Amino acid sequence: MLHLLAYALLGTQSASASPISARWTQEECSNSPLRSLAEANQNRYFGTAFQTFYAADDRYTSILDTQFDQFTPENEMKWEVIQPQRGVFNWTGSDLVIAKAKEVGGIVRGHNFCWDQQTPSYVTNITDPDELKSVLKEHIDAVLGRYKDDLYAMDIINEPLNDNGTIKASVWYDVLGEDYLATCLQYARDAAPDLKLYINDYNIESVNNKSIALANIVKGFRANGVPIDGIGFESHFIGGSVPKDLQASMKQFTDQGLDVAITELDVRVPVNNAGIANSTWLQIQADDYSTVVQACLDNGNCPGVTIWEFTDAISWIPGVFAGQGAACPYGLEYEVKPALGAIASTLANGFSCGNGGR
Ligand SMILES: *[C@@H]1O[C@H](CO)[C@@H](O)[C@H](O)[C@H]1NC(C)=O
Ligand SMILES: *[C@@H]1O[C@H](CO)[C@@H](O)[C@H](O)[C@H]1NC(C)=O
Ligand SMILES: *[C@@H]1O[C@H](CO)[C@@H](O)[C@H](O)[C@H]1NC(C)=O
Ligand SMILES: *[C@@H]1O[C@H](CO)[C@@H](O)[C@H](O)[C@H]1NC(C)=O
Ligand SMILES: *[C@@H]1O[C@H](CO)[C@@H](O)[C@H](O)[C@H]1NC(C)=O
Repeated sequence: MLHLLAYALLGTQSASASPISARWTQEECSNSPLRSLAEANQNRYFGTAFQTFYAADDRYTSILDTQFDQFTPENEMKWEVIQPQRGVFNWTGSDLVIAKAKEVGGIVRGHNFCWDQQTPSYVTNITDPDELKSVLKEHIDAVLGRYKDDLYAMDIINEPLNDNGTIKASVWYDVLGEDYLATCLQYARDAAPDLKLYINDYNIESVNNKSIALANIVKGFRANGVPIDGIGFESHFIGGSVPKDLQASMKQFTDQGLDVAITELDVRVPVNNAGIANSTWLQIQADDYSTVVQACLDNGNCPGVTIWEFTDAISWIPGVFAGQGAACPYGLEYEVKPALGAIASTLANGFSCGNGGR
């Protein structure tokens, strides 16, 4: 059964969603927001990263409020934002994300605690293991003390591995060793027993040294009672290069009883100086989005897909990958791109939809 907690959270607003056995008309399918189409697929969610900087921008919110039923704070729950100095908390952005989810009847995936980036130097300077553990526990207790009833899941650990499968250098690994993974997860479980605890990473979307190493770590956790509920496949893809063995990689984890969520999907393609991609690339990109959404639908333990922003206007890609961009389903002017229709029709074909639906 798919994520029952989310089902409970969505219960009050899922009047638009039908159970899997229902037969929707073709018109209902094509006029439906992504969230309704996802909810009708065994109550999956369809989510987006949310930058609260745009929370008062009508162009942004008119899409945010209607298409999505899951939100991930793009920056607002990162350590440097939420506790920039020890004991000084800034809940402004994270409160807005929670409020948005409540307003539209959606759920929130929190993001994140243990990471090698965007962590303030009062933390990364610590060299004493006991002190580091107590600062970590303080932080987790404060954030989950405030939000444990408002979060469906959280990326407790973010990007812990190198591509060769070894554990990445960070204050956590350097001071606490490999045990930091279990410590971080256990503190979160203690603070929020019902929260789904995730490890989130990139380049694990195919069966490679990195994903195999993570699957082995998870196996050890399962054997030793370390709490873990899911793996986040970030899925920052390059147009035309979605791994052929994406589903096989997901199975490495779902076969162990975990969920695998697609957590940060975008598909970057070559763009001109104005940030625009040509029609060939936009179609390749649409097919890629479809492939990834289908991989989630095909796995009974994939609770949903989150895209890493829905509009090219504020995507992180052009700032990081020169000559690449246009990675989202809406364009620079919030116009609909082929990827949006590809996502919708993939979700619509996942259940009975007019004549000939499956
Ligand atoms: C708190 O965070 C918000 C963004 O989430 C930011 O705009 C604001 O400046 C921060 N406040 C302080 C006092 O740093
Ligand atoms: C952390 O260490 C760096 C380098 O020694 C120093 O510049 C910085 O002020 C330290 N940060 C804190 C909060 O102590
Ligand atoms: C993957 O691991 C194998 C050994 O297990 C090693 O030979 C190979 O170089 C590794 N590949 C990468 C990309 O690290
Ligand atoms: C694995 O990759 C990391 C980061 O690139 C590197 O520092 C480390 O030496 C590599 N380890 C092995 C065994 O290849
Ligand atoms: C789009 O650009 C690619 C090169 O990146 C080129 O091969 C393709 O023909 C172009 N398509 C159109 C419609 O211009």
